[in-house]
Amino acid sequence: MGDLELASLRRAYQGQLLDESNTPSEPFSLFKEWLQQAIKAQILEPNAFVLSTVDAAGRPHARVVLLKGFNPPYIYFYTNYQSAKGLEIAHNPRVAATFWWDVLERQVRMEGIAEKAPAQLADEYFASRPHESRLSAWASPQSQRITRRELEALWENYLRYFHINPIPRPEHWGGYQVRIAKVEFWQGRPGRLHDRIVYEETKEGLWEKYRLAP
Ligand SMILES: Cc1cc2nc3c(=O)[nH]c(=O)nc-3n(C[C@H](O)[C@H](O)[C@H](O)COP(=O)(O)O)c2cc1C
Repeated sequence: MGDLELASLRRAYQGQLLDESNTPSEPFSLFKEWLQQAIKAQILEPNAFVLSTVDAAGRPHARVVLLKGFNPPYIYFYTNYQSAKGLEIAHNPRVAATFWWDVLERQVRMEGIAEKAPAQLADEYFASRPHESRLSAWASPQSQRITRRELEALWENYLRYFHINPIPRPEHWGGYQVRIAKVEFWQGRPGRLHDRIVYEETKEGLWEKYRLAP
């Protein structure tokens, strides 16, 4: 990979000051503000984040999913409950969510406990999805080994089966709500002295706020 010259890729970070005095006492209002700014900045998928889970053998796994709801202290995403991530969460509900908004030079790292979200939320969101997305929730046995031919055959079958609208939500598809107990805000700053402000929930349900070295 020498021709990519990754080691020499370097940019000057110009982000705004983030410190203990100009941040709120809880993390969610700041997260909302940063998310709104990411949406405004016309980032391709401002609500995309890396979801990290751990399997029964203690091995970490990470993949991108979309944030589809935010109601402090919960964030929400939707997926297949029988997928690899679904099985991992069933075994160990501790997850991490990492957002990276490049043009804003910002990262947000969250940690929390995932659980299935109420079915009613999934029903509402599923009903709002385009026809093809609803069909693929049925046709794709997410995370299972498959050939392209098998996948297309499944799709064709469900297409025939669901020739009438609307397609109901499959039982195996739904939401997770992650109860967030730790959030780190990272802001790129000039001279590599980047800002890192962490919020950690205390036993009393309050938020402890502190700075970490970059
Ligand atoms: C931009 C982007 C958004 C994605 N959003 C979702 C999502 O919201 N839900 C989902 O299940 N998979 C989503 N995926 C696919 C996942 O990254 C992943 O391939 C899939 O969920 C299977 O993961 P698993 O085998 O670890 O369970 C997205 C992928 C990308 C690149």
